[in-house]
Amino acid sequence: MSEIVKTPFELFDRQPPLPTMSSEILTGLGEEQKRIPPKYFYDAAGSKLFDAITELPEYYPTRTEVGILERRSADFRALIDAESVVEYGSGSSMKVRILLESVRPAAYVPVDISKEHLVGAARSIQVDFPDLAVYPTCDDYTKPFQLPQPVAGLSQIAFFPGSSIGNFAPSEADVFLANVARVVGPGGWFMIGADLKKDPRVLHSAYNDSSGVTAAFNKNVLRHINQALDSDFDLDAYAHEAVYNEIDGRIEMYLTATSDQVVSIAGETVRIRESERLHTENSHKYSVDEFRAKVEGGGFEIVETWTDERAYFLVLLARAR
Ligand code: AVJ
Repeated sequence: MSEIVKTPFELFDRQPPLPTMSSEILTGLGEEQKRIPPKYFYDAAGSKLFDAITELPEYYPTRTEVGILERRSADFRALIDAESVVEYGSGSSMKVRILLESVRPAAYVPVDISKEHLVGAARSIQVDFPDLAVYPTCDDYTKPFQLPQPVAGLSQIAFFPGSSIGNFAPSEADVFLANVARVVGPGGWFMIGADLKKDPRVLHSAYNDSSGVTAAFNKNVLRHINQALDSDFDLDAYAHEAVYNEIDGRIEMYLTATSDQVVSIAGETVRIRESERLHTENSHKYSVDEFRAKVEGGGFEIVETWTDERAYFLVLLARAR
C-alpha cells in the first residue's frame, strides 16, 4: 500500500470555460440534425431534476442498479482491492456509498461537470466518511482528464454507474473505455452499470413519465444555455419527445419546436423550423453479451457480471489488461 496524505477537502476545478460551451453548442446547432450534448443538462437545476427522475416510479434504472449493488456488496469486498475510487459523473454520490463501505478505499475522487452539486455531494460524503480523503474534481469526463495529483500513485477502481455509458455513440464508447483503461492502468479495476434491452413499452414510459419530470429535465437544457450564454430560447416553444429506436437500440430524446424560432446565441443566429427537432440525448441499451464484448474491446478482462431478477440492468466488474 502506498501512503496517502489526507489533505484538507478542496475542489480540483477544471470546469470547462464558457467559450468551450459556446463553441460546442454552436457546432451542434449548426449540424443538419441539430443537437445539444447531454452534458449540458447538468447545471445545478438539471442535477436536481435528474435526482427527481431517479425517484420516479417509471424510471427503473436507479433503484434496480442500487438493488444489485446492495445485494452484491459482500462480493465487492472479497474481490476488489483498490486504494482510490474514481467516479465518473458522480452526481449526488449515492450509489458510491455502497462501494466505499465495501471496498474501504483511502481516497475518493468524484468527477462531475455540475460544480455546486459536486461540492455539496462531496461534503456530505466527507461528513459520513471522515477518514476518507475526498478530492472532488469538476471536469468533463467525456474527454480525457487528469486525476488529482494526490491519488496519482494509488491503485484505482473507476466507477461509472447509471448507464451513462449509454449517452455515447458505440464508437465514442469504445474510445471512452480505452481511456478508462489508461486511467486505472494495468490491473486497475472498473465497475460499470449498463441498462439492458427490454420491452420497448417499459423503456418508453421510463423516458415519458406521467408527472412530466423528464420533460422538465429535457427543457432545462435550454434554460441552462440561456443563462450561461445569454441566449434567448423560448422554453414554451418546444415539446419533449422521447422515442425508442429499435434498430439502434437506443432511446432518443428531442426538443421539438412547436413554431418557427429564431434564437440568438453568442452573437450567432440559429433558425429552427416548426416541428424541427433538437436532439438532446441518446440512451443506448445493450444485451449482456454486447456489453461484455464492448468492455473487453476497450482493454479489460471481465471479472464478474450481475443482474436483477427481471434482467433490466447489468453491473459489470472488470480489470484493465
Ligand atoms: C444519466 C444518462 C443514465 O439515459 O437514463 C434520464 C439520463 N435522461 N432520463 C439515462 C436520463 C432522461 C440517464 N443517464
